[in-house]
Amino acid sequence: MRKPMIAANWKMYKTPKESLAFLDEFLPQVESHTASEIAIFPTMSSLGYVIEATRGTCVTAGAQTMHWLNEGPYTGQTSPTMLESIGCTAVLIGHSERRIYAHETDDMVNLKLKAALDHDLIPIVCVGETFDKREAGLTEAVLRWQVAVALNGIQGDLCGKLVIAYEPVWAIGTGSVATPRQANEAHAIIRHEVAVHLGQRCSQSTRILYGGSVKPDNVANLMAEPEIDGALVGGASLQPRSFLDIIRNATA
Ligand code: PGA
Repeated sequence: MRKPMIAANWKMYKTPKESLAFLDEFLPQVESHTASEIAIFPTMSSLGYVIEATRGTCVTAGAQTMHWLNEGPYTGQTSPTMLESIGCTAVLIGHSERRIYAHETDDMVNLKLKAALDHDLIPIVCVGETFDKREAGLTEAVLRWQVAVALNGIQGDLCGKLVIAYEPVWAIGTGSVATPRQANEAHAIIRHEVAVHLGQRCSQSTRILYGGSVKPDNVANLMAEPEIDGALVGGASLQPRSFLDIIRNATA
């Protein structure tokens, strides 16, 4: 009932020319793909090009971050209205690299989620515990807190609109992928917390993606878990071949 989503987070990689070269190779390979939804999150400087190149295809293009206000004196920021105006339809919110390096807080994640929903952008809200918090037995508390604050005051029918990515910080870019069981347990905690705030029906329609060292050879085992509805892929999404293999293996 939840259509899998496989998303590429290109982080600070790829110029517009490199992004288009990727798509030249990638898009013909997914022309008749229907088994999952595919999304690509390029850098802001490539986003407009990627949106144009993917128009009319099965690939959704989104931004890696945005501000929550429509305009203002915020140097370096991009607003939801601006994303909407270039045809952007999705946005990552609260990625741990934004939380760590740009000091984004749970309250900002909440404001951004509200703004994304107001602008009909598909929000992918990222949550996840650090290694220290997991070691201290605080994984559940961290996840519940992050989800609770993100969803604070959110109203309306979010069924099918909300996407959450569980990305344990210790697994991102490290090669230490969470075991399918660890990931499934975390996803169940997240889904339960979504149900507390938005109700059972909405929580059942919320897709929860796993992210953190997803590769072509580990994605199938992760996707075999009942609570895992897709993947948010960093490093292994940068080459068309390996991203294609992930997409295929995820729903094989
Ligand atoms: P990774 O990154 O696949 O390189 O671990 C995932 C992410 O940060 O979204």
